Amino acid sequence: MAQSRSSRRASDDLAVQTTNDDATSCKRYATQKGYWEDDFVKYFCRTSDRKSPEINRGYFARVRLYQLLVEKFLSLAGEESQVINFGAGYDTLYWTLSARSLRPKLLVEVDFEAVTARKCYYISSKEPLREVLVDPVIEKDSISSKHYKLLSGDLRDMATVGEKLLSSGVDTSLPTLFLTECVLVYMDPDKSREVIRWAGNNFSTALFLNYEPIFPDDSFGLTMQANLAHRGCSLLGINACPDLESQKQRFLGNGWQCTWALDMAEVYQQLPKNEIQRIERLEFLDEKELLIQLLQHYCASCGYTDKKRIGLDKVRLSKNS
Ligand SMILES: C[S@@+](CC[C@H](N)C(=O)[O-])C[C@H]1O[C@@H](n2cnc3c(N)ncnc32)[C@H](O)[C@@H]1O
Repeated sequence: MAQSRSSRRASDDLAVQTTNDDATSCKRYATQKGYWEDDFVKYFCRTSDRKSPEINRGYFARVRLYQLLVEKFLSLAGEESQVINFGAGYDTLYWTLSARSLRPKLLVEVDFEAVTARKCYYISSKEPLREVLVDPVIEKDSISSKHYKLLSGDLRDMATVGEKLLSSGVDTSLPTLFLTECVLVYMDPDKSREVIRWAGNNFSTALFLNYEPIFPDDSFGLTMQANLAHRGCSLLGINACPDLESQKQRFLGNGWQCTWALDMAEVYQQLPKNEIQRIERLEFLDEKELLIQLLQHYCASCGYTDKKRIGLDKVRLSKNS
């Protein structure tokens, strides 16, 4: 019985890890189509099947939001800052920032060991990825270098992950940006709250940016859940945080002083107009309604505490971002 429970958990974890391959494949395809530039994603995903224009535009909104807010954070916090990306998968942020000489003091990524082991392999075997690291020590499932660290860990055990982060050089006194991009929703709500609480309780000048699906109970939400369940993947956290208000309350109740949340349809509206006009010319979209529905079922939420008063209230989209 105990064995079957643990093997069920292993297969659930495997299904969750596979979502990283999907995200990377979607990002690779959208960059090939010209939605945004990323010279590094191709090293983590060689080929990619065709994706619909709705999916491409949804990924554009998600990726551009993160890029713009990371840049805003770094412009306020400067180089003496940190970025911690939980459930980073094959995220290319360290490389895209380095290419633009935008480098925080430390960027740390955490994911399951199976994912970090594959990321280590890609980084060590692709020169354009490896050459960006400063004094790297690349192990089987972890990397330590001057400005970039890749750590294996299970975010459901935040005590251990927290200790690992602190012993790898994370400094709780530095302005710190936490990122979770489509990660917390795969975790039991008690466990995702612990991730948010650990960050909120230990860092007093910090911002936590989260992206995930919402509205599980309408027909779109039920179909989204059924599609994932079909692949063995459950959105364990979606019912605890099903809308913008509960997303905000999760931050306020777990160590953060300020919060905001936007659905991705609002984000799409607030992205720079010239960029939206450009990407809307890339592919013909027959059914605008489907795109709006898709965007309304995902949100960006944020918690921040700004003890050093560096202006973290400005790390958000504005009408003329
Ligand atoms: C949908 S992917 C997103 C990857 C990346 N953040 C992105 O947006 O491209 C979800 C990621 O979260 C990771 N993840 C989910 N639960 C986790 C846990 N308990 N511990 C560590 N990583 C986890 C998965 O392995 C996967 O890489």
